[in-house]
Amino acid sequence: MPTIPSNVRGARFTGWGVALGEKIVTNDDLALTMETSDEWIRERTGIHRRHIGGSTAAMSIESGSAALAMAGIDPASIDALVLATTTPDRAVPATSATVQNALGLRCGAFDVNAACSGFVYGLINAHGLIALGAERVLVIGTDSLSRVTDWTDRNTAILFADGSGAAVLESTSGHGQLLGWDLDADGSAEEILFAEIGGFIRMDGKEVFRRAVRIMVDSAQKSMKAAGITADQLSVVVPHQANIRIITSACDKLGVPMEKVSVVVHETGNTSSASIPLALFGDFGQVRPKEGDLVLLVGFGAGMTAASAVLQWGAQ
Ligand code: UT7
Repeated sequence: MPTIPSNVRGARFTGWGVALGEKIVTNDDLALTMETSDEWIRERTGIHRRHIGGSTAAMSIESGSAALAMAGIDPASIDALVLATTTPDRAVPATSATVQNALGLRCGAFDVNAACSGFVYGLINAHGLIALGAERVLVIGTDSLSRVTDWTDRNTAILFADGSGAAVLESTSGHGQLLGWDLDADGSAEEILFAEIGGFIRMDGKEVFRRAVRIMVDSAQKSMKAAGITADQLSVVVPHQANIRIITSACDKLGVPMEKVSVVVHETGNTSSASIPLALFGDFGQVRPKEGDLVLLVGFGAGMTAASAVLQWGAQ
């Protein structure tokens, strides 16, 4: 478990933005075309509606330009673009290239595919680039899962949706916001959640659920240990928004009360790489961090990846 060297060059968020798919699809809409119900979906997942439609590039451009505007910086001053996505628009080039050009960036750009852990993977990479001398990095998490969802499969179609969240990370003179982090993966579980190239997502929901709780708790504990904090010191927890029952079970095991947990899954469904930034930066009435708060981001996804980070909100 790596710990952050005390003299590392730090960074913090200075701007952020979000975007959602163009069309709202309710549970009742889904019940018109498959054997399911609003009551079943709410009870088993916590999802009330989801937003679908829009390419990965288009949503990334929308959230990314909002983040640049909030930070008040010239796009040409960004030193790198990290785009977390598991649904690139093309096989080649990386969707980050399209986004880099559209936003007027003049820097390196690359995609990161770590499924639903993607935003945290991208964020840790961005902190690493700043430690190596970059001044400003744009980190985006976007997925258009509706394109890889089989809309006749009630096992998956009730869960997945489209969205994007972006943040500008800028270097600071102090230690910065990142206090501890953990990245993990277990490729031996590949078959429980996958999509072939050009195919739809296939999932063993029960097995994903069972592992998800365990790996989120494990990763969160590693990050907290690296940060030298305990769960009772956290003010806000931002978990991957897959299923409210996974969130409550993991937070219960971590000893974090639900009043501290940011939940947007009722509004967004599971947007994979976009899920954590939507829950952190969105405006859905969720828990939002204040200056100085300790914040835990924790995700899990196909691969089976897990990723977490302990941040001090607003830290210089
Ligand atoms: O980012 C990571 C992505 N994936 C996940 O996080 C998925 C994790 N897993 C889950 O969220 C849950 O396992 C699901 C929501 C997918 C399923 O919930 P569950 O509580 O595990 O349901 P189940 O598969 O055990 O099914 C219970 C019953 C079954 O009927 P019987 O056999 O008891 O008669 C299913 O056939 O519910 C039935 N069922 C449905 N009924 C209405 C399964 N899906 C549906 C549905 N609507 N959509």
